[in-house]
Amino acid sequence: MEPESKAPHVLIFPLPAQGHVNSMLNLAQLLSLAGLNITFLNTDHNHNSLVLHTNILHRFACFLGFQFKTIPDGLPVDHPRAGDHFMELFDSLELVTKPIFREMLCPGQLNSATGQSVTCIIADGILSFPIDVGNEIGIPVILFRTISACSFWVYFCIQDMIEAGELPIRSMVITLENEDMDSLIRSVPGVENFLQIRDLLSCCRASNLADPNLQYVKNMTRQSPRAHALILNTFEDLEGPVLSYICTKCPKTYTTGPLHAILKSKLESKMTLLLFRSPNSLFGVNKSCMVWLDAQPLKSIIYVSFGSVTIMTKEELMEFWYGLVNSKKRFLWAIRPNSVTQKDGKCQIPLELVEGTKNRGYMVGWVPQEEVLVHQAVGGFLTHSGWNSTLESIVAGVPMICWPYFVDQQINSRFVSEVWKLGMDMKDVCDRVMVEKMVNHLMEETREIFMKSIVEKARLANESVSEGGSSYCTLDHLIKDIRLMS
Ligand code: UDX
Repeated sequence: MEPESKAPHVLIFPLPAQGHVNSMLNLAQLLSLAGLNITFLNTDHNHNSLVLHTNILHRFACFLGFQFKTIPDGLPVDHPRAGDHFMELFDSLELVTKPIFREMLCPGQLNSATGQSVTCIIADGILSFPIDVGNEIGIPVILFRTISACSFWVYFCIQDMIEAGELPIRSMVITLENEDMDSLIRSVPGVENFLQIRDLLSCCRASNLADPNLQYVKNMTRQSPRAHALILNTFEDLEGPVLSYICTKCPKTYTTGPLHAILKSKLESKMTLLLFRSPNSLFGVNKSCMVWLDAQPLKSIIYVSFGSVTIMTKEELMEFWYGLVNSKKRFLWAIRPNSVTQKDGKCQIPLELVEGTKNRGYMVGWVPQEEVLVHQAVGGFLTHSGWNSTLESIVAGVPMICWPYFVDQQINSRFVSEVWKLGMDMKDVCDRVMVEKMVNHLMEETREIFMKSIVEKARLANESVSEGGSSYCTLDHLIKDIRLMS
């Protein structure tokens, strides 16, 4: 597909992490389908992983106006880029990547495949420097936040919570029994009746307001109105009330999600789904689980995955495993390589776990998650509540048990359970009895209640990405806005 002559040239730059690259690649493909020139900027580390594990080059080769470029993230090759070390990426991007990024955008440096200079930057809104560089060089910047609208809004209001004396939180004992953690947050408009201290993004648990992660997230999000516009991967019928608060601060907010579903819908209409809709995966996908799923009874499987960054201890892993086995339900568990730590630093999956799972479970490193969730054998999702996973589960109509790990996931899980009634929140608990109980509730005892809500949300999600739907039309508006910039 050729871009139109004089088509705008958009530089897309995600935070180099799975959930961010995934949704921004979906946006890149949608903009390419609309005939725009796109340069997708990956870090060298992630680009190598993408090329190794996917057919990404082949998938984008048909767009003559599309190109990949790479930039260093400044970390050593063997840096884990996960768990407690994840935030180190931000310092390194600021120090090493930012000057190269600025250089790249100087006149004459970065042209599209068709010779056009950059007319617009769509940058991950969690990164601080693209907006500075764009403003300095005079290129409009649109921020893309990969989190939910509800998480974005809570992040935006961190300053208000500080001014109201709700932060720093008084009690740091993070147990279920600590009732202080269940107190409601009063200074975030729209969530006063259900958002508890416990549900705040994880860096709000810092005892000191000077905590660098808390400061970074607060300052970054508060800067969003400086950008030309904001894109959120969500849809009106899910997050309308919170979106109306966001629009008071960022009037040009485009809600174009769920992006994976809108892309699927556009590709289906072009009959090119099989060729173009492969996972945007940074990890090696093991598809053997699909054959195993084919042999399982309808809606009998609980799918377990904690996403691309979560690290858990061996003790936590064992609690989940006993809980799953004791629930007597069948399960498919994606355990990402190197995602389990032991005190001695090793991360071997215990042999007893592998053996015990053979009876009614299947374990694999990384699955094609979107495909898994829509498989007819899957009836529930035990998730870390990453936003992509949450949206994929909603679109597939699969209810959730949420075990959030960090950042936005703490907020998403509260909305899933308390506001949207799509499942249960298990935050701050990791205990085999609770896992067993929750799995049985989700798969049997209270299943009907969750199914009713999720089937309705799935219907609304699919409506929003179909021709004439809210996200479908908003995407068209966004494309028009980008065209006006060139
Ligand atoms: C983090 C944040 O918590 C999330 O909210 C933010 O938007 C991005 O960064 P992450 O751990 O990457 O998230 O989770 P999530 O957003 O759910 O993304 C994970 C992606 O990996 C999903 O698209 C999922 O389909 C995919 N995945 C996961 C696989 O393809 N296979 C797997 O085995 C597991």
